[in-house]
Amino acid sequence: MNAPLPRTRQHLPKRTVSIIGTGSHVPERVLTNAELEKMVETSDEWIVTRTGIRERRIAGPEETTSEMAAKAAMAALENAGIGAEEIDLILVATVTPDMFFPSTACFVQAKIGATRAACFDLSAACSGFLYALEVAQQFITSHTYSTILVIGADKLSSIVDWKDRNTCVLFGDGAGAAVLRHRAGGHGVVATHMGSNGNLADILHIPGGGCLNPVTSQNFDQRLNTIRMNGKETYKQAVTAMLSAAQAVLEESGLRFEDLACIIPHQANLRIIEAIADRMKLPLEKFMINLDRFGNTSAAAVAIALDEANRTGRMQVGEYVLLVVFGGGLTWASSVIQW
Ligand code: ACO
Repeated sequence: MNAPLPRTRQHLPKRTVSIIGTGSHVPERVLTNAELEKMVETSDEWIVTRTGIRERRIAGPEETTSEMAAKAAMAALENAGIGAEEIDLILVATVTPDMFFPSTACFVQAKIGATRAACFDLSAACSGFLYALEVAQQFITSHTYSTILVIGADKLSSIVDWKDRNTCVLFGDGAGAAVLRHRAGGHGVVATHMGSNGNLADILHIPGGGCLNPVTSQNFDQRLNTIRMNGKETYKQAVTAMLSAAQAVLEESGLRFEDLACIIPHQANLRIIEAIADRMKLPLEKFMINLDRFGNTSAAAVAIALDEANRTGRMQVGEYVLLVVFGGGLTWASSVIQW
């Protein structure tokens, strides 16, 4: 006769997952539009009217992605009121890891002393933070882990072509973090939606540096290791994907746009956010916007905005918040959280 199967976690009820703390970090160095005017043929007026960006933060040589991520993580732990030794898993969403391996999450672990944690990185470009949030959610819901540190961090200045005015004016560096934990009877993530379209990889990508176009002096001379973007197509896809992702997650949550207290979108371009607000028939004031100060920080953008919304009291307990993102891949994601 077979021995009885061990009792698995699947017998346990699903759990609500709450964000119990947030944190962020940006480098001190500010790069203004006026400075960019001296680097490429552009103007403050062009950048502000086409993007809404006025300045961005640029990390120095010692300020790696893991360095910024660790600082954001420490702020999130302090905000949550817990110690690093309580973390079971560290997830870092990034497209600019310190190295191909070890993972940036492992570097963060060493920097913050989260000795009990398992660590790995996740790649979904600008959508990475919400992808990581959903992965973390599943681990907690299934009782695999109790406390997870989710980080979105990128040093895009290291992969920008500083001679290409089409892209170099858009991006900045930074990191944002959130601590996730089950909170009995508490509010938390209501629903999450994720999507991808690999057929449109070409409109926003870095062709070199991987195994397809490895680092050779020829590939380097052609700047294959820097961001390539079809701006117009990216803009169109971003508006469509973010809107449908928002609609999908609201439907799953049984909510309407007017039920939302705050919308925290990917911080790429003010015109994209305005277009979405218009289609949702919501006032722009409901949207958390900080891209004027930080530009597009990729996976960090929505995480930094979430932290700012948290610390400035934009979200009250019990209110519904929508996070919605878009990035290379193409990838997109949305999440409704009852704060
Ligand atoms: N300064 C001055 N002129 C510029 C600049 C610049 N920095 N960049 C481009 N131009 C020029 C172009 O060369 C073009 O000149 P041309 O007509 O002589 O060829 C002209 O301005 C118009 O260019 P467009 O591409 O038509 O400008 P558009 O209005 O589309 O705005 C922009 C460009 C801001 C990039 C816009 O397309 C956009 O925001 N796209 C989405 C980008 C984005 O969000 N990317 C990231 C999302 S995903 C992620 O976060 C990774």
